[in-house]
Parts: sequence; structure tokens; C-alpha cells
Amino acid sequence: MKLLLLGSGGREHALAWKIAQSDLVSKLYIAPGNAGTEQVGENVDIAVDDFQALRVFCMEQDINMIVVGPEVPLVNGIFDFFKGDIALKDIKIIGPSRKGALLEGSKQFAKEFMQRNNIPTAKYMSVSQITLEQGLQFLETMQAPYVLKADGLCAGKGVLILNSLEEAKEELEAMITGKFGQASEHVIIEEFLDGIECSVFVLSDSEHYKILPIAKDYKRIGQGDTGLNTGGTGSVSPVPFVTPEFKKKIEERIIVPTVEGLKNEGILYKGFIFLGIINVQGEPMVIEYNVRMGDPETESVILRIKSDIVDLFEGVAAVNLHEHTLEIDPRTAACVMMMSAGYPGEYKKGLPITGKDLARALGATLFHAGTKKEEGQIKTNGGRVIACCALGDSMDDALSTCYKAASTVSFNNKYYRKDIGFDLR
Ligand code: AMP
Ligand code: GLY
Repeated sequence: MKLLLLGSGGREHALAWKIAQSDLVSKLYIAPGNAGTEQVGENVDIAVDDFQALRVFCMEQDINMIVVGPEVPLVNGIFDFFKGDIALKDIKIIGPSRKGALLEGSKQFAKEFMQRNNIPTAKYMSVSQITLEQGLQFLETMQAPYVLKADGLCAGKGVLILNSLEEAKEELEAMITGKFGQASEHVIIEEFLDGIECSVFVLSDSEHYKILPIAKDYKRIGQGDTGLNTGGTGSVSPVPFVTPEFKKKIEERIIVPTVEGLKNEGILYKGFIFLGIINVQGEPMVIEYNVRMGDPETESVILRIKSDIVDLFEGVAAVNLHEHTLEIDPRTAACVMMMSAGYPGEYKKGLPITGKDLARALGATLFHAGTKKEEGQIKTNGGRVIACCALGDSMDDALSTCYKAASTVSFNNKYYRKDIGFDLR
């Protein structure tokens, strides 16, 4: 089959790398891709949310399946767009319908969905311009720290955790009056949950599901989880505190009611479900839903999937995922993200990258995140540049390979966290 993968980050290079190993795929395109995806498929210069251009490309190239990497096209309704077009409706799409994508596209929708389906999550109140006064009063009934979340997509910037009531009130008002534009016209005020987080990935065909390897990511830029939030600076899988008992609780209390809830509410969901889970004294609660794989969790998760991922996608499309096998490597995978100093603030682009072949020879797998090829040379093209990833018999083994590779890959202003996995030892 001919498969089109949408996206351009480390997640997409990892997915492309895996998809390219499938015997079921005769041609892999990535739109728009990066310098890494180009090594395993053909990049196509189309933006992920340019549905008209994607439509034309799919018709010209006779695409059979589209795998959607990032959330924006899903929230914009790519599934419904293709299914509603007579010429495109037979293309298999791995990703939820527009309604399903609201689990990420609207935090209010996600909270209401969890409430309707008895899925454990933090207590909350949804506030808009007309209920601002009640929102400010609600904050007074709560204890610090205060959690405020913009309802809509904010590229990972829409969650504020504040220590003082005054600050929380000011920020609530600023959000409601346009701090994040339309995305914060509604704001969720949420109870703060104290615990350690993990990322749980589920592949759903709308009737059946498979739980993919569970991972943990490291979001803060600084050592010891300090400093600004980023897209993610590294990851490991599996996660030691996710014992079989804890995993069973996640499955029974969260995954089953999520898949059943979507089905009962008539929401078509054939794709990845990302559950941000927090362990509150041994009890799992949902911090957030995403409707895609995580980045940089995917880089670790993919290394542990032994089965043909495209075979699993076929199961999603045919709604017979339960008849397909998911074999997981018991070893530990780790990922250390190489970044450009300054990220998540301002940073330079276009810096030449060297040492990649040596890193590979050290046993690491490199997934490109923000890279591009220019005049035959691979250069940095984003804050997160290259993920150094490896499998090992233990977390320390895996990380030791990642770190050898990380010291070998080289570009000006390179930065990476030296303590990935520190809290799991
Ligand atoms: P989100 O975009 O919803 O994942 O939020 C970003 C990060 O904020 C999460 O990964 C958590 O670390 C933190 N966070 C979000 N909601 C809460 C909460 N209710 N209690 C504690 N931390 C939270
Ligand atoms: N690593 C978290 C995310 O992809 O949102």
C-alpha cells in the first residue's frame, strides 16, 4: 500500500522509521517531514493542515492510508474531511473524527466526557466571561497551587500552575480576556493533583483497543525537573512505578470507560489515545487526553514495539484490532533529546550537525526532530533537534547508550538534560 504520514517532528521520524520496516508498505510519503524522515521515505512539501493540497496529492498518488502525527489536523477535522469526500472516503485514516479530537481540542469537553463516564480526574470548574465572578470566588475556596487551563489548543502553553491566590485571580482574568486568544475564552480551574506522571498510549479501532508500551517524559528544560515547560526533553519506557496492579487500575477505570464512552456517545475514534496519568497515592487519575502519540514518548515506545505497526493500523481500519498481535520488547527504551540552547525561548536555527554516524555506531538510534537538509548538509531547524534513543537490559544501560550518542552528535549551542530517568531510580 501507499502510506502518507503527516508531521515533521521526532515522533514522525520514529513512526516513519517503523512504518518503513513493514512489508505491507510499498511507498511511504511524509508531509512535510524532516531530514530524518527523508532517509526512510519521500518528503512532500505540504503543510499538515492544508487539506486541499493533501486531497490533491492523495488522489494523484493513489494513497491508501494516512497516519496523522500531530493534533492540529485532527482537531481541524481531517478525518471528517476525507470521509465526507466521495473521491477520498476509502482512504484509511489513523486518527479520530473531529468530535473525537475534542478530547484534546477542548479541555472542557474532555472534563465533561470524563464526568459523564465516571473517569477519575481532578475536580474543576469551567469559567467564561459571564461566569468570571463565580470563577474568582471558586478560586477562593481552593488551596494553592492553583491550576488554570485554557480550553483550546495552545501548543502546550495553555496550562498555568500558580502559587498565590492573587496571581491566580489575575491570570484567570487575563486568560478570559484574551491572553491565549480564542483558546482561553473558556478556562478550566482545576484542583491540583500531587503525584508522579506517566503517559499511557492506546490504539483504538472504535470497538477494541491495544495498550502500547507505557512511557514517562521529562517536560521541564532544567535538571531535576526545573525551569520552563517544553514539548519534552527525553523519555523512558517502561515506567517502574506502573506495576501490573497499577496498570490494571488504569485499564479498568480509565481505558475501558474511555473506549466504551466514545462508542456509547457515537464518537468515531480510530486512532491513538494518549492518557496523561498521574499516580495519586496509588490511584490513577487523568491529567489530560491527547488524540495523538506523545513526543518524545513515541521515540521510546516505538523501539519497544516488535510487531508490524502497519498490520496494527490495518486492524484499526478494519475494526478487527483484536485479531492482530502486538508484541512488546521487554527491554527498556530511553530517549535523550538534543536541543538548541535557548529553547523553549528563542534559539538559533540552521546550525550544521555532525557526528551522527558515530552516534549510530555506538548503538543508538537517532530520530530527527527539528532538522532540515540544506545544500547537502543536515542543519538544525527547531528547538528540539535530534533524539538519541536506545534499548537496553536496564534503564541505566539504555540511557548510557543514549548519553554516549548525545556527547557525539554535535552542533553549536547544543543542550540536553543529563538526568533523564532520575526520578525512577
Ligand atoms: P496538560 O497540558 O493538561 O498536560 O498540563 C501540562 C502539565 O501541567 C501536566 O503534564 C502536569 O504536569 C501539569 N498539570 C496539569 N494539570 C494538573 C493538575 N490538575 N494537578 C497537577 N499538575 C497538573
Ligand atoms: N510529551 C508530551 C506531549 O507530546 O504532549
